[in-house]
Amino acid sequence: MSGSIGIGLVGLGRHGSRYAQHLLEGIPGCHLAAVSRRDVGAGRAFAERHGLLFVPDWRELVTCEEVEAVAVVTPPALNREICLAAVRAGKPLLIEKPLALTVADAREMVRAAREAGVALMTAQTLRFTPVLVRLRDCLADVGPLEYLVLAMRADRPPHRWLDDPGQAGGGVLLEIGIHLLDLIRFLTGAEAVEAVADLEQRHTTRVEDLALARFRLSNGVSCYVEVSRVSGGRLCRVEAVGRAGQLIADVDRSLLTWIEGRMVTETEAVPDRPTVIAVLETFAKSLSARVPVPVSGEDGLRAVAMADACYRAAREGRPVPVVIPSWPA
Ligand SMILES: NC(=O)c1ccc[n+]([C@@H]2O[C@H](COP(=O)([O-])OP(=O)(O)OC[C@H]3O[C@@H](n4cnc5c(N)ncnc54)[C@H](OP(=O)(O)O)[C@@H]3O)[C@@H](O)[C@H]2O)c1
Repeated sequence: MSGSIGIGLVGLGRHGSRYAQHLLEGIPGCHLAAVSRRDVGAGRAFAERHGLLFVPDWRELVTCEEVEAVAVVTPPALNREICLAAVRAGKPLLIEKPLALTVADAREMVRAAREAGVALMTAQTLRFTPVLVRLRDCLADVGPLEYLVLAMRADRPPHRWLDDPGQAGGGVLLEIGIHLLDLIRFLTGAEAVEAVADLEQRHTTRVEDLALARFRLSNGVSCYVEVSRVSGGRLCRVEAVGRAGQLIADVDRSLLTWIEGRMVTETEAVPDRPTVIAVLETFAKSLSARVPVPVSGEDGLRAVAMADACYRAAREGRPVPVVIPSWPA
């Protein structure tokens, strides 16, 4: 793929609008070619304002000549169907997390893309957060890693579909906790082998809004995950606890803190940058250079499998293995 890649964007809601804005402001190697959303009036008006193609039905958008790659920023229940249609049309995909509602759906998507030789990138955006990249680069400083503590707290959700298991697949764990599950693999390079979890519905009626989980990794490290949407205010923090010291990343303040003995050193703020810009740039660069995307469909599948293990563990009230489905090579 050469020249500027025409992106077809499905979904122009809270997060899709960020994609649109960044693309319109200019991302090297790609441009916004067409958009799709359910609200035809709003979609048409937006497209006219910016000289874009508006395609009400995403099934048509993925086959448009102007659309060379597809970005999917819809409620995740649509991801599977859109992915399979785009793969059939031979269009590379960037899909927002969670990749799918279930492990079976994620596996089908990854398999279809692989068999068709179509690039599939999962937008696990936290991997592109500068302070977390810095933490990863400095992780060896803590000495042998004993455990990780990862927390994410957010305000009560704005969307009704988030309390609908058919639309969201799960609660806060699958919706935003999936960022932390993926980070465990990104930061440690190890795979989760076992999970235990406790889920609560404090203000929700159908899906959890508070999740506590513990993973055992293939390298013996333990990871403790806390996710909720019950608080006022937000927090995202990762703590790496090692024998030589501790590193703490405060994502909202973009600060890394080093603790050694009684000494606490706050690093300079790591310059922050919207992660969607980095995700789009990386996607376009990988397609142009014909190299594999850095956060693959398999990565998205593995994060969904970790969430799935938590749901099983919570239901069964005991530790369960994290099952990654395999398929013929
Ligand atoms: N990585 C991150 O940090 C991050 C942050 C936020 C969200 N997300 C993810 O992004 C996705 C979208 O979240 P959101 O907050 O943007 O949700 P949202 O505000 O509800 O937006 C969903 C969008 O999908 C569109 N849509 C729904 N059904 C459609 C259909 N059949 N055809 C075409 N468009 C359709 C909606 O169109 P209408 O508006 O016209 O109804 C809307 O524009 C979710 O997967 C979420 O997990 C990721």
